Amino acid sequence: MQKKFITFEGGEGTGKTTIIERLAIDLKNQGYDILKTREPGGSEISEEIRKVILNINNTKMDYMTEALLYAASRRQHLTEIILPAIHSQKIVLCDRYIDSSLAYQGYARGIGIDKVYAINDYAVNGFYPDLTIYIDIDPQIGLSRIKTNHRDMDRLDLEKIEFHQRVREGYLKISQMFPDRIKVIDGNRSLEEVYNEVKKLVLEEI
Ligand code: TYD
Repeated sequence: MQKKFITFEGGEGTGKTTIIERLAIDLKNQGYDILKTREPGGSEISEEIRKVILNINNTKMDYMTEALLYAASRRQHLTEIILPAIHSQKIVLCDRYIDSSLAYQGYARGIGIDKVYAINDYAVNGFYPDLTIYIDIDPQIGLSRIKTNHRDMDRLDLEKIEFHQRVREGYLKISQMFPDRIKVIDGNRSLEEVYNEVKKLVLEEI
C-alpha cells in the first residue's frame, strides 16, 4: 500500500495554516484525494485531552505530563483520523505532528529531545511522515506579523521571543537529525514565494 503522509511544522506567524489550506484546495482541484487535518484534529478524545493541556487553571502541570498528554492526543488522532485516511488511499496533510513535541517540549521546555522522542515513538508506533516541511522564520518577524498593535516590547513579550527563539533552535536541530524526512523552507519571504516552494516539494513527493 502506498502511504502518503505529509506534515507541516513551524513557529508562530509562518503562514503555515494558510499555506496548508491553499495547498489542499489546489491539490483537490488537480484530482488528488486529500485529507487535511491538524493536531489534535477532528477527534473528540484528542480535543478533550488538548483542553486539559490548555486549561489555564492547570498551573501545576508538570512539563513531562504536558509532553505525555500531547503524545496521547497524537496517538488518538493517528488511530482515529490519520490511519483510516491512509488506508483509504488518501494523501494526508497534517498541521503539526511529532516534531512540534520535539521542538516545544523536548528542546524549548528543556525535557530533552531524546526523551520526548522516546514517548512519541511509542505513541505513534513508528508511524512517521514521508515528508515534513518546516517553515523556518525569525521569531521577531513571525511575531510582528501577527501583532496588530506596535507598542514597545514588555518583559513578557521578551520572554516570549526567547521561548520562540528556542523553539526555532529546536526545529533546526531536529531538521539536522532527520535530514531525509524534514525539509527546511525559508519563511522570511512573501507568502507567495513560500507557498510556491512548499507546493513544489509536495508535488515531488506525491
Ligand atoms: P495552535 O492553536 O494549534 O496554533 P498554531 O497555528 O501555531 O499551530 O497551537 C499550537 C500550540 O501548541 C503551539 O504553540 C505549539 C504547541 N504544541 C506543542 O507545544 N507541542 C505539540 O506537540 C503540539 C502539537 C503543539
